Amino acid sequence: MDLQTLKTTASSMVANGKGILAIDESHGTCKKRFDALGVDCTEETRRAYRGLLVSAPGISEFVSGMILFDETIRQKDNYGKTYSEVLSAAGMIPGIKVDTGAHDLALHRHEKVTEGLDGLRDRLEEYALLGARFAKWRAVITIGENIPSEACYKANAHALARYAALCQEQSIVPMVEPEILMDGNHSIERCYEVTAKTLQVLFAELKEQGVAPEGTILKVSKVLPGKDHEAERDPKKVAELTVKCLTENVPHELAGIVFLSGGQTPQDASLHLSLMNQIGPHPWPLSFSYGRAIQEPALRAWAEDQSDWGRAQRALVSRAKMNSLASKGEYTLEMEQNV
Ligand code: 13P
Repeated sequence: MDLQTLKTTASSMVANGKGILAIDESHGTCKKRFDALGVDCTEETRRAYRGLLVSAPGISEFVSGMILFDETIRQKDNYGKTYSEVLSAAGMIPGIKVDTGAHDLALHRHEKVTEGLDGLRDRLEEYALLGARFAKWRAVITIGENIPSEACYKANAHALARYAALCQEQSIVPMVEPEILMDGNHSIERCYEVTAKTLQVLFAELKEQGVAPEGTILKVSKVLPGKDHEAERDPKKVAELTVKCLTENVPHELAGIVFLSGGQTPQDASLHLSLMNQIGPHPWPLSFSYGRAIQEPALRAWAEDQSDWGRAQRALVSRAKMNSLASKGEYTLEMEQNV
């Protein structure tokens, strides 16, 4: 493990005004998104779509790196360059999703545990050769009646810590992602409680496995009410409770925190991030690692006309720019009028 390399990579990932673009959808998720817009999901359409994302002109001003999927890190553009090489040439950091998905947690109905530890050391070695400098693992926590269980918190945190240790062994920055799902009708207070507990259990496990916080990035959901909760939207409360929860439960030596968008609209995702950064200063940079909230308009534009990359790329860069502003606390909803 080279701690200096880990620290350098991690701090570049959350450099001022920059965040991460997640383009690591599994084939199943990709198919769902493509199907909704009437696009066939094949190896070639995925290659084409991801090709336009990694090569969007100007995106590196706002995006420090992208998370690729196993298939994508091996794919090449029309000139024979791998997507990892395309990113590096533009000054962006290639990352890779290394978990193999969330599966039913045995003896615990409605709960999941993320798998992918078997053979991970060898896979990480290969990904490093393919250019990956950080790696993501997503754990899923569901809020419901009597859940999450202690077993669910513990099993997911333990897997995250084992994967993070394997990453750091090879000087790859772990991007540890516990996602508390928005599904359900729970209150924002309940989400706060579950997020706090998730973080406490996670950081205890990371410490036990010897993972260095200065070489780790946390990717997490915001403290939000469930999708079906009837309370009025209150972006300021989301920002305040999220910052409070993180400040109380995340070690201050951590290299940085980025958020997933998890089904928020692109505008809400930008607004929440901006409001959080207006509350500062915080012990760590707070930035984005959005998938849907940056890709949505670009994917729609590309689905309408697959031959017009320019329009889709402009839509992508425009959302990346909004989030870059948000990471500095400078985004406002009024900016959407000029998009
Ligand atoms: P969303 O921003 O679409 O939630 O995706 C981010 C991600 O990488 C989830 O694992």
